[in-house]
Amino acid sequence: MHSLYTFTLLLHSWNRWIILVAGILSIILAISGMIKKNNYNKLNRTTSLIFLSSLHFQLLIGLLLYFVLSPVTLQALSDFGAAMKNSTLRYWAVEHSFVNVIAIIVVQAGSLITKSRQTDQKKFKATLIWNGIALLLIIIIIPMGFMGVERPWFRF
Ligand code: HEM
Repeated sequence: MHSLYTFTLLLHSWNRWIILVAGILSIILAISGMIKKNNYNKLNRTTSLIFLSSLHFQLLIGLLLYFVLSPVTLQALSDFGAAMKNSTLRYWAVEHSFVNVIAIIVVQAGSLITKSRQTDQKKFKATLIWNGIALLLIIIIIPMGFMGVERPWFRF
């Protein structure tokens, strides 16, 4: 196996945990901020920023895998029609990448919307809605067995 492929897959696999932890934390903090009527503070900003940046990084290495390194997607790209009839190839060539790109766009838009909100309560609400929708999409489509496709949760 190509060693750059192995390394990139390893990065993509571990970065998933940064995404999941930051995403979940940003939502928990938004809910607790709404309940306790806290100020929208540096921790709120930082967790959302880590969620967004780790997603940008995931997109970058995902595209590298998709178009350059992954034997799975390269096989799918070589005969897209046939790949659509194979549920595993279709998952990697279409579902995984497409749904995650949508999720990343939702987080990016949500980040701008949150910034534009004038009160702290509205910022918490925007964070909860947009990061929540994106995290839901990510968890539905992530290859951790919830929707059928499973890869190692921790790759070494
Ligand atoms: C929220 C964003 C994403 C998450 C959480 C995520 C998560 C994962 C996970 C856990 C794997 C399995 C890695 C392994 O086998 O150890 C994987 C593989 C992969 N992902 Fe993503 N991914 C995301 C976004 C993307 C995007 C946007 C693309 C493409 C544009 C992409 C392309 C791929 C490819 C090509 C593979 C490898 C298929 C293979 O060679 O076996 N991913 N991803």
